[in-house]
Amino acid sequence: MKRDRQTLPIVAIREENVSLRTFTFETSLQALPGQFIMLTVFSQGEKPFSILDVTESSFSMTIKNIGPFTERLFQMDVGDIISIRGPYGQPFSQETGRILMVGGGYATPPLRFQAKVLREAGVRYLVNVNGARSETDLLYVPDFMDYCDRSLIATDDGSQGYRGTSVAVMQDVLGEESFDRIYISGPEKMMKAATTVARQFGVPFEVNLERYMKCGVGVCGSCVMDPHGFILCMEGPVVDHKTLDKLEEFGVSHRDKTGRITAL
Ligand SMILES: Cc1cc2nc3c(=O)[nH]c(=O)nc-3n(C[C@H](O)[C@H](O)[C@H](O)COP(=O)(O)OP(=O)(O)OC[C@H]3O[C@@H](n4cnc5c(N)ncnc54)[C@H](O)[C@@H]3O)c2cc1C
Ligand code: FES
Repeated sequence: MKRDRQTLPIVAIREENVSLRTFTFETSLQALPGQFIMLTVFSQGEKPFSILDVTESSFSMTIKNIGPFTERLFQMDVGDIISIRGPYGQPFSQETGRILMVGGGYATPPLRFQAKVLREAGVRYLVNVNGARSETDLLYVPDFMDYCDRSLIATDDGSQGYRGTSVAVMQDVLGEESFDRIYISGPEKMMKAATTVARQFGVPFEVNLERYMKCGVGVCGSCVMDPHGFILCMEGPVVDHKTLDKLEEFGVSHRDKTGRITAL
């Protein structure tokens, strides 16, 4: 697995919606779903981003324009240069039995990547619940339809699919069908609710967590989760249900960029 720093041109930019773009870079990156890279933009420093997809000669990421770093990235064009290091972190497991995926918002990229990899690995049965605020915020709808046996949509305003949250749809699906594992990626409050439902139905699950990350390699301590000093950038960001039991900060608090613990 190549982890050296690489300097790369942007080879494609795709507009997903008003605030989200998918950037593609040319290099062979041996990455698995759930892993992330540290991306450097000149003058703005370095930030972590999940991997959306890899091919033999490229990889891509979907990025939300949310602040100074991502704004600078959104000013860049095809041919402009960034640098990366990685991939880092623990990926989702590769269970290929009966799988349910529950996702929401811009945390969906690792699930789209996982759906593709599981389909290629011959997953037995794959159901996806794709949640967003409204139809315009939904990501990768055709891809999930391609990769999954059932692909369900939940929007808060009912503009597409079921009106309500992806967790409500997840609850309905678990009432109808049995699954071997659930993969969850979304805002932490949504994941907290989803894990409560998964436990009610007794299905093992994995969540994809985000914490403020500065180094990505276990040095700075900014991503550490209490009370056991779990180093999310190395031991996560994907965490299974047994480990999650020990992370009391899950759904409750996190460290901000100064390292201070604040409520989520
Ligand atoms: C493992 C991991 C994977 C991620 N994957 C994606 C992704 O695929 N697409 C995407 O758009 N974003 C992703 N993020 C979040 C992304 O790193 C931040 O949104 C981005 O750094 C914002 O930078 P900014 O300067 O534009 O905004 P800022 O104004 O600096 O921050 C806006 C918000 O982004 C978050 N943030 C800022 N810096 C960091 C940081 N160093 N680490 C974690 N969160 C931060 C905070 O919640 C902050 O309030 C991921 C974060 C982590 C930890
Ligand atoms: S981001 Fe530095 S220890 Fe995890």
